[in-house]
Amino acid sequence: MNYFIGIDLGTSAVKLLLVDAAGKVLNTVSKEYPLYFPHPGWSEQNPADWWQGVQTGLKELLAGFDASLVAGIGCGGQMHGLVALDEADEVIRPAILWNDGRTEKQVAYLNSEIGKGVLSACTANIAFAGFTAPKILWMRENEPENFARIRKIMLPKDYINYLLTGVHACDYSDASGMLLLDVEHKCWSDKMLQICGITRDVMPRLFESSAVIGALQPAVAAAFGLPESAVVVAGAGDNAAAAVGTGTVNNGDCNISVGTSGTVFIASDTFGVDPHNALHSFPHASGGYHLMGCMLSAASCNKWFCEEILGTKDFSGEQASIDEEKLGRNDVYFLPYLMGERSPINDASARALFFGMRMDTTRADLVQAVLEGVAFALRDSLEVARSLGLEIAESCLCGGGAKSPLWRKILANVLNVTLKIPAAEEGPGYGGAMLAMVGAGLFKNVPACAEALVQIKETVSPSPALAALYEARYQQFRKIYPAVKSLTRSAE
Ligand code: XUL
Repeated sequence: MNYFIGIDLGTSAVKLLLVDAAGKVLNTVSKEYPLYFPHPGWSEQNPADWWQGVQTGLKELLAGFDASLVAGIGCGGQMHGLVALDEADEVIRPAILWNDGRTEKQVAYLNSEIGKGVLSACTANIAFAGFTAPKILWMRENEPENFARIRKIMLPKDYINYLLTGVHACDYSDASGMLLLDVEHKCWSDKMLQICGITRDVMPRLFESSAVIGALQPAVAAAFGLPESAVVVAGAGDNAAAAVGTGTVNNGDCNISVGTSGTVFIASDTFGVDPHNALHSFPHASGGYHLMGCMLSAASCNKWFCEEILGTKDFSGEQASIDEEKLGRNDVYFLPYLMGERSPINDASARALFFGMRMDTTRADLVQAVLEGVAFALRDSLEVARSLGLEIAESCLCGGGAKSPLWRKILANVLNVTLKIPAAEEGPGYGGAMLAMVGAGLFKNVPACAEALVQIKETVSPSPALAALYEARYQQFRKIYPAVKSLTRSAE
């Protein structure tokens, strides 16, 4: 039986999966790499660290397995990161990531001077600090020598695909997060390229996510004992890959991911735009489209609070001290804007906040407030979707945060949505492997692959009483950011 490799090029680590042709996960490996914050609000990584992680990860993944049976590789990757290559295809500077907030000035230029209407007409989206186009403008203004050396612009997973195959490729789901793609017509927008001062030849070739971009370079195949016949597919942005991996491929299906970022992803057969552009309008890896809200700090809020503030890595130990009777009754609120915020408020200056503490507030109350604050902020995006007439009564749930039973219960009740937990927990990696299966010809398309392989192992339903308590709390939560918004702006 053939094997397939799924790669999830995340922000904290690269996760690799070995899957057989029946969709069974045979092995998983995770390799962490550093994340740099060279200035407040900036976020960078070295593409060489990603490649190092992929190489050591592949060796470990394949140890004890017959690598010659691998028939395909598919990658889902962190979106929006700017990887600039020179004429020798060398990386010019560290990658500027999706949660980097340095481009406030360029975002204001794009949204106000070029105008949201023009941006939305060209790309179906407006500018957000993490998107790629404002970063290109930032480089042009602040690092003109580096900008002049650019010969190719790539996204993180596309750089890995390039090292595997020697092909500069990008899929539509990921390309859309650059603010350079005409999403409706699935081609680069010449007007946006011109606004950013770049030409079509620096852009990678566009593919559908399950399309084969090329074969492994012979040296790469030899290094891992992989067959040169193994196909590499274009892959997808991590959210679209996760949606594939959780079976979120049919019109109206929803997937919620609680990873470093938090996303609400709604699949659609047809192209559509949120009239206020609070939700992103992107193509889906399944061939259709999707709307997505993205918060910049989700499971990372819990990681930050436990590790940096409480000084523990025992997340479940901290959660064990939360009394379930206190769910829906916590007087402490947490605004989760540790890296500023994208959806729906689009405010790179927003900051995190604990509110409502008293002398009797406990450590457990604060941990609970962090979990709840993330759920409330996800609900903000869900409410935008609901205001567009989308009915979301159930959703898949994936990402590191989805592993906590307590957080699942909080999410189900805050969102008032039944959550489905897939059997294969590694959403983007599993989706990547599925895209490779479609590319290798095992399935006729992505929905057929999802129908055959994705299984739900558990559902978590909201309880009417708890959902009502959380409804009241959410109405309080929504008032906090507007009340403090001006303070963080004037502080900087
Ligand atoms: C989506 C986004 C994040 C990253 C995380 O727009 O920026 O979800 O893709 O890896």
